[in-house]
Amino acid sequence: MLDHRDFDAEARSILRRNDRGGYTVPTAGLYPHQWNWDSAFAALGFSLFDLNRAWTELETLFSGQWQNGMVPHILFHQQDDGYFPGPDVWGCNGAVPSSGVSQPPVAATIVRRIWDNDRRIGEERIRELYPKLVAWHRWFMTWRLDRDAVCVTHPWEAGRDNAPDWDDTLSGIDATGVGEYLRRDIMAVDPDMRPQKHDYDRYIWLINLGRDSGWDEARLLERNPFRVADPAMTFILLRANSDLAAIGRELGKDVVELDEWTDQLTVGAKSLWNPEIESYDSRDAHSGKWSGCVSNASFLCWYGGLRNNNMLQHFNRIMQAVPYWIPSHDPDSDRFDRLRYWRGPVWPVMNTLIGIGMEEAGLDDEAQTLRESTAELVRTGGFSEYFDPCDGSSAGGKDFTWTAAVWLAWVSGKNGKGGWARYS
Ligand code: GLC
Repeated sequence: MLDHRDFDAEARSILRRNDRGGYTVPTAGLYPHQWNWDSAFAALGFSLFDLNRAWTELETLFSGQWQNGMVPHILFHQQDDGYFPGPDVWGCNGAVPSSGVSQPPVAATIVRRIWDNDRRIGEERIRELYPKLVAWHRWFMTWRLDRDAVCVTHPWEAGRDNAPDWDDTLSGIDATGVGEYLRRDIMAVDPDMRPQKHDYDRYIWLINLGRDSGWDEARLLERNPFRVADPAMTFILLRANSDLAAIGRELGKDVVELDEWTDQLTVGAKSLWNPEIESYDSRDAHSGKWSGCVSNASFLCWYGGLRNNNMLQHFNRIMQAVPYWIPSHDPDSDRFDRLRYWRGPVWPVMNTLIGIGMEEAGLDDEAQTLRESTAELVRTGGFSEYFDPCDGSSAGGKDFTWTAAVWLAWVSGKNGKGGWARYS
């Protein structure tokens, strides 16, 4: 078995191997472009051994920012026929060919972390990035709120593609006109581990709707039947926004607007508490109906800065139900599917956000348990995309950038408890 240092070296090597010059692909083959939140994690990983490269990753991501402030979930810097749906399907015309939806905005939190590593090296670069981050957050606050919680307008925007959270809303969409298309993902990975055709048809239908609406947010607000308030998006933006305000303050900026957003989102996050299941849950913004899902997103409450422990009951129950934590969907639910992507598997990247939040909230024992469980999965199954919570086997794509990055930043625990690793 490899010892820690070998794993650290392998993690760094994965980041280097997935580097395409200025940006990092999530994994070769399956995901050959730049993905938004993957890239922010890549920057976090790079920041531990190559600060300059870390900043470049973020700068490349923001080179694709739209004029309205949106930062797309995929940037297609190069042509690659191995990925579907490509830029022609999305039909967007920003500075860089891209998708038309965004992804969870972890970037500001990671930028703050990276800047803290070395203020001097980061000074000029953060001054350039800061207004871009503000513009992106403003775009969320303008176009994505429902009762001050943050909505997703496509399952891919959530980053939790086929989570059961979206099932009811997706079922209301008649996708018969979507036509024929060739899925590339099930050529690269076992179809039993990927979203099903019913879901995929609706993903494509929603892209067609966006493209036919010219990706005009005002029009889509009226036309898009898929609008779901999501705990992950809400907690992540809430956290990122207070980190951005902290950066702004240090740079001598006026942060009144950002502080107002933080207050607003704190109220909105609380609106996602579903008393029927006693959990943070997602909610269809059109119908007001709950999804009824305890998911790994529900446990991001601490990361979002909420300081009550009302999710611990579920945490303790789930610890009894499966041996590896935290499954992406409640193992006691009949929609749990241990290998199917966001319907059951454990994602190290989500565990990292959850664990960091727990540490900050003083839940040291729980965070430590989660860290050890995650480290064991990686030590036995490698830097995979996700893992089976029932037997710990690795699944999905291999040599994943964000799994390698979070190994270095949190999972390996080489800096002890109490936060994220630092550049050394
Ligand atoms: C999948 C994941 C998403 C991630 C992308 C690239 O679509 O659901 O969260 O960003 O793969 O890794």
